[in-house]
Amino acid sequence: MAETAERARQLTDQRAKFEVDDSVAYFNTANLSPLLDSVRAAGEEALARRGKPWTISPPDWFPDVEALRGCFGRLIGATGDDIALVPATSYGLAAVARNLTAGPGDRVLVLDEEFPSNYYTWNRFAERTGAELLVVEREPGQTWTEAVLDAIDERVGIASVPNVHWTNGALVDLQRVAPALREAGSAFIIDASQSLGAMPLDVATLRPDALVAVGYKWLLGPYSLGYLYLSSTIGTNTRRVRGASTSVSERTSSSRRCPWRRSNSSWIGPFRASRRR
Ligand SMILES: Cc1ncc(COP(=O)(O)O)c(C=O)c1O
Repeated sequence: MAETAERARQLTDQRAKFEVDDSVAYFNTANLSPLLDSVRAAGEEALARRGKPWTISPPDWFPDVEALRGCFGRLIGATGDDIALVPATSYGLAAVARNLTAGPGDRVLVLDEEFPSNYYTWNRFAERTGAELLVVEREPGQTWTEAVLDAIDERVGIASVPNVHWTNGALVDLQRVAPALREAGSAFIIDASQSLGAMPLDVATLRPDALVAVGYKWLLGPYSLGYLYLSSTIGTNTRRVRGASTSVSERTSSSRRCPWRRSNSSWIGPFRASRRR
């Protein structure tokens, strides 16, 4: 009780931290959040630095990025090494889709009226692989959680779901959905764009294969900066993983993509497997 009261106290009067005119009451964070003054200051500082490249030396390239990956990792119960920075959820979802496979007889589960980035990614995936796109609809009076649980069976090989539906904020209870997907042998992808920052989420408990989120909603960050979490065992719960389970980072790592990089070059450090790129 005392803790709840303390949290409520902390959440009062945050207005001074944001750039919102006194005459404005802004509620549309589910679309685009107001900007924290501190975020704007960091962005302006970075642009100013970028304007003077002679002030940027090699050790300056990565610390901010690594700090951000670590922050996001901590927020969802992972580590920075599990996180890749992506420009959009569609980009992250496409990387995930490229690392899973399916075929005729398999189903890819998405919600009705899902956000286009999710819908198009998995629709294209289904067309490419011959799997069936299963668009889950709600019966009148049914919750999303009930509708999803009703739709899960052993034919579902991949499920890509949010924990808050973007159209109206309705909850999908992932604590109940996650074990049902594991039981069915399905890969489990979360789009947390509409909840992260406002609701807690723990990948150590939910054990998804991947999670994507934009940064410009409840995370109060800039546009064009999103996040992709990949579990180290992506796809191993499903029969439909493409290739070996560690291959996501390796296949996309820049050192693997650039054959002209000689591994014995002194300026190349040892390859470090992670979700970095
Ligand atoms: C649920 C959900 N996913 C993703 C996005 C953004 O997708 P993208 O980053 O591909 O533009 C939004 C934006 O409103 C969203 O509501």
